[in-house]
Amino acid sequence: MSDTNAIGLHASSAAQLAEKLNALLANYQIFYMNARGYHWNVKGEQFFELHAKFEEIYTDLLTKVDEVAERILTLGYQPLHAYSDYVTVSEIQEDKQVADGKQCVQGLVKGFQVLIELQRDILSQASDADDEGTASLASDYIREQEKTVWMLNAYLG
Ligand SMILES: [Fe+2]
Repeated sequence: MSDTNAIGLHASSAAQLAEKLNALLANYQIFYMNARGYHWNVKGEQFFELHAKFEEIYTDLLTKVDEVAERILTLGYQPLHAYSDYVTVSEIQEDKQVADGKQCVQGLVKGFQVLIELQRDILSQASDADDEGTASLASDYIREQEKTVWMLNAYLG
């Protein structure tokens, strides 16, 4: 019993997953702020359409930030909660001063690609550890975001 956590998962698998989820969380936080920047800074003929779409996207990212952080707590670990840590850990880089609509959308596509890749890795590891809760979270996100990438790429033509 001593090598399992509060929800019956092997402690070592839970620790590894929590670390990967913390890296995912860091990427979500930086990506969230990038999307917020696109929402604020975008200019041009499609301002109203893109401004609203970026709000929809960052709102969804913020929901997932909380879900990922609380999954880490559920596994028995502490989520990173300082931007200085997010910047260090995140693979997605801060994207500043972007006002061109296409560049904003390209930034979103790139970010979603990183998230999807990280989540596939988490899904695979969670499945191996019989961690259905983490696996289903990751697979829901992957399915949603793959569709978003298709739509964003359709916009880019
Ligand atoms: Fe706004």
